Amino acid sequence: MLIDGHGRKVNYLRISVTERCNFRCQYCMPEKPFSWVPRENLLSFEELFSFVRVAIDEGVDKIRITGGEPLLREDLDRFIQMIHDHKPDIDLALTTNGYLLANVAERLKDAGLKRINISIDTLKPDVAAKIAQKDVLSKVLEGVEKALEVGLKVKVNMVPLKGINEDEIIDVMEYAKARGMTIRYIEYMENVHAKNGLQGLNGKEILAKVKEKYTIQKVGREGSSPAFHYLTDDGYKFGLIDPHKHDFCESCNRIRLTAEGFLIPCLYFDEAMSIRDAVKAGNIEAASEILREVLRNKPEKNRWSEENAEESTRAFYETGG
Ligand code: 5AD
Ligand code: SF4
Repeated sequence: MLIDGHGRKVNYLRISVTERCNFRCQYCMPEKPFSWVPRENLLSFEELFSFVRVAIDEGVDKIRITGGEPLLREDLDRFIQMIHDHKPDIDLALTTNGYLLANVAERLKDAGLKRINISIDTLKPDVAAKIAQKDVLSKVLEGVEKALEVGLKVKVNMVPLKGINEDEIIDVMEYAKARGMTIRYIEYMENVHAKNGLQGLNGKEILAKVKEKYTIQKVGREGSSPAFHYLTDDGYKFGLIDPHKHDFCESCNRIRLTAEGFLIPCLYFDEAMSIRDAVKAGNIEAASEILREVLRNKPEKNRWSEENAEESTRAFYETGG
């Protein structure tokens, strides 16, 4: 079992397989072209897996593959298959923008993927094109239908933004509800890469919009999920992720691995250690020792706040949120 320096059990690994993305969401990436990590710096699936195997053997039983956009990594199903073959009952999930999903959903499912999270911030093509800075909606929605069809469990993420999609909070919920999907509203987190002047709705404002149509009651947190859950009067459960409150750190069970091999103990914390040399050298003991070191140093609480968000250069597109 993996226990961090504050006594928390860590069983959840998030792996960002690439920081590249085919979208330029206003809340996540700069609009102008910028330079990506050179491809040769990326760890191969075999190298990533050599670490993943250590983590699984030490107690990780939940893995989420993220990006950037993870489906930009060719043959991602191969990586999923490696993880699945090592531990078939692992809770294996993917976060994707959905754009490339329709064609590969079945292969992913067959390789052992169980769940998918997709961002749907709007159901209006022009608003989607404004947020992602590309005409994306029809392909994303096609991806959702295909994922459901092949039997993947799908969750929807929505980031409500002032003056952009705040009028669609109920519409996106009803779209998700009609398809048996859970929705989680995520408060916009200020960061240096996002478009200037972008403003998110806070949790209270989001709930107020839901309450325009539904009566809601609190359910609470479930397990180590950062989402707080609510139930509508017609029995639909939805989540709210409210990082401005900082109250989910005490149950934090996760660590993150980037495509270059950085092991990050907390999203809102600039320290990281690299497992790159260890896995390149095939030195599993060294990789395992780095994992332990990172866990010892996992901070008790995140250091992120609106005030210092301008200082942190850690990008969500590198770490997968
Ligand atoms: N604030 C809140 N959520 C964000 N995401 C990306 N950047 C931000 C941000 N600045 C979300 C996306 C996606 C998930 C991977 O992270 O909407 O659902
Ligand atoms: Fe890409 Fe996701 Fe960032 Fe949008 S939020 S630019 S889809 S990584």
